[in-house]
Amino acid sequence: MKVLVIGSGGREHTLIWKIKKSPLVDKVYCAPGNAGIAQIAECIPLAVSDLSGLLDFACTKSIDLTVVGPELPLTLGIVDEFNRNGLKIFGVNKKSAQLEGSKVFMKELMSKYRIPTAGFRVFTDAQLAKDYVRQKGMPLVVKADGLAAGKGVVVCRKEAEARQAIDEIMERRVFGAAGDKLIIEDCLAGEEVSFLAFTDGKTVLPMVSAQDHKAIFDGDNGPNTGGMGAYSPAPLVDDNLYHKIMERVMLPTVKALAAEGYDYRGVLYAGLMIIGGEPYVLEFNARFGDPETQVIVPRLASDIVPVFQAVIEGKLAEIELNWRTEAAVCVVLAAGGYPGKYGKGDLIGGWDKFDNSGDLLLFHAGTANREGGIVSAGGRVLGITALHHDLKQAIASTYTGIEKIQFKDMYYRKDIGHRAIR
Ligand code: AMP
Ligand code: GLY
Repeated sequence: MKVLVIGSGGREHTLIWKIKKSPLVDKVYCAPGNAGIAQIAECIPLAVSDLSGLLDFACTKSIDLTVVGPELPLTLGIVDEFNRNGLKIFGVNKKSAQLEGSKVFMKELMSKYRIPTAGFRVFTDAQLAKDYVRQKGMPLVVKADGLAAGKGVVVCRKEAEARQAIDEIMERRVFGAAGDKLIIEDCLAGEEVSFLAFTDGKTVLPMVSAQDHKAIFDGDNGPNTGGMGAYSPAPLVDDNLYHKIMERVMLPTVKALAAEGYDYRGVLYAGLMIIGGEPYVLEFNARFGDPETQVIVPRLASDIVPVFQAVIEGKLAEIELNWRTEAAVCVVLAAGGYPGKYGKGDLIGGWDKFDNSGDLLLFHAGTANREGGIVSAGGRVLGITALHHDLKQAIASTYTGIEKIQFKDMYYRKDIGHRAIR
């Protein structure tokens, strides 16, 4: 069969690396892809938001299965569009993508169905929001309602920070229409865990747990990024917590979505705060995480393609997932300056020292082919994943792997996985 993957990050490189292992697959395309993906799939220069271009391509090439990586095409309705044209596509429909596309929708759903989450209020008026901040007291979390490329959440320790966040979202409108509404949430203190599951709207098939490191600097300091590294499993998630997460969060959310008439099929990703052994939902995403995918998918022993098909066909109850028992760690190599301003076009050395056949894997994110070699083309440039029975060894192998790579102003965190071995 012919598969098309949409996206261009480390997540998509990992998905394609896994899809290529399936005996069901003859050919993989990726739109738009990156330099690493181009080594294992045919890249098509179509943007993830170019729905008509992607649809044309999938029809012309008779693509048997399309897999969507990022949230943007999901919120634009790519799945509905492909379905209308009789094409099989893995991802949630436009209505369901609201779970990630609107934090107000997400919070109201949780509140209606009593899914544990931080207390919150919704505002459409900046002055009322500021009055509430004054009255409520610090700390608080201010969140733009819509998609803001991971930058629409500000954890505020001081009232001035909250006022500034409200101004930026609602008055200066730095996220555009995403700031028509905002949420002010109680600040939760605990440990974060990412819990992802496949669902066809009825069955919930969990993946192994993971934890990402969102902050740019060691010790989880500095501004948040898309994710600077991850590891799986998250040792915090023992059997007891696993069952609580399934019973209190994952199953009730899928049931709630079904009860509300959403035909939710795809990945349900819960960003959780664990407080005193209890899970609270910080956010839901309607897609695979990045860089969580780089540690979860290499641990999947089963063929991933039948899982995608079963989700699409509503037959997930027939699927069983087998996982490797090794732990996995991924460290992201970023361009110096990220998540602020950073350089592009710097030549990358050492990528050819990875053949991605064993337990040390190189996944490309912001890379591009130029005359003379592969260059950096984004904030997060590469990710290195290692697997090992011993998490400490996995961490050590990842950092040894990094020594093979060079590019100008390469930056990475030195403490990925520190919480797991504490
Ligand atoms: P989100 O995009 O909603 O996951 O928020 C991004 C990050 O902000 C999370 O990974 C947390 O570190 C932090 N965060 C979000 N909501 C809260 C909250 N209610 N309390 C404390 N931290 C939060
Ligand atoms: N790693 C965070 C995300 O994918 O949203």
